[in-house]
Amino acid sequence: MRPDPAPSVAESMARVAEIGLLPVVELPDLKLAEPLFEALSAGGLPAAEITLRTAAGLDGIRLLVEAFPTGFIGAGTVRSVEDAARVIDAGARFVVCPGTDPELVAYCCERQVLVMPGVCTPSEIQAALRAGAAPLLKFFPAEPLGGVPFLKALAGPFGEVRFVPTGGINAANLETYLSLPQVAACGGSWMVTKALLAERDFVKIRDLTAQAVGIVAASAVSRG
Ligand code: 3PG
Repeated sequence: MRPDPAPSVAESMARVAEIGLLPVVELPDLKLAEPLFEALSAGGLPAAEITLRTAAGLDGIRLLVEAFPTGFIGAGTVRSVEDAARVIDAGARFVVCPGTDPELVAYCCERQVLVMPGVCTPSEIQAALRAGAAPLLKFFPAEPLGGVPFLKALAGPFGEVRFVPTGGINAANLETYLSLPQVAACGGSWMVTKALLAERDFVKIRDLTAQAVGIVAASAVSRG
């Protein structure tokens, strides 16, 4: 089945906020892509950030975008314009980067694909916005860099920006992050760890995903 037409940047931004959670995946083997996405979907989360940290990542994006046309599948660990071109050509609905590379940000904007560059300082936030990024940025690595208090401090000067904190987030601290109005969604690998993928434990992946989706749903209610 052919994928639906690519969503606009605004549509992808809305989808990130609606989902509230992006599972960060290191795909060890292309054969695991479909059962993994089925497990995530069964847990209530038809979305994935497939990183380019493994050789299967790029083909995994292509395969999943074709196999799950209504899924929300994007690319992570995108560190060059060349990689951005490859993942966008493969159908990635969004591009996540560990850091802020203005050239890469500008390229994704030109291709009209949501890019969430990683930021961890006010200067990087300014650089990302200046390069054309939408006001939805990855805060990485969230926990080592100060987590919730750091994000609260950014709300003053960057009131229009919403963040996707990633790095050290799990079922125990997810709710605290999501309680901040400046947090649109959280990213993390705890539902789909390398160990769970190595063991092909799709039942556990589904269950951890369902637990996380429950936390997101509860926090959405309390956020109104
Ligand atoms: C990322 O790539 O965004 C992070 O490595 C994910 O962080 P986590 O493994 O601590 O969830």
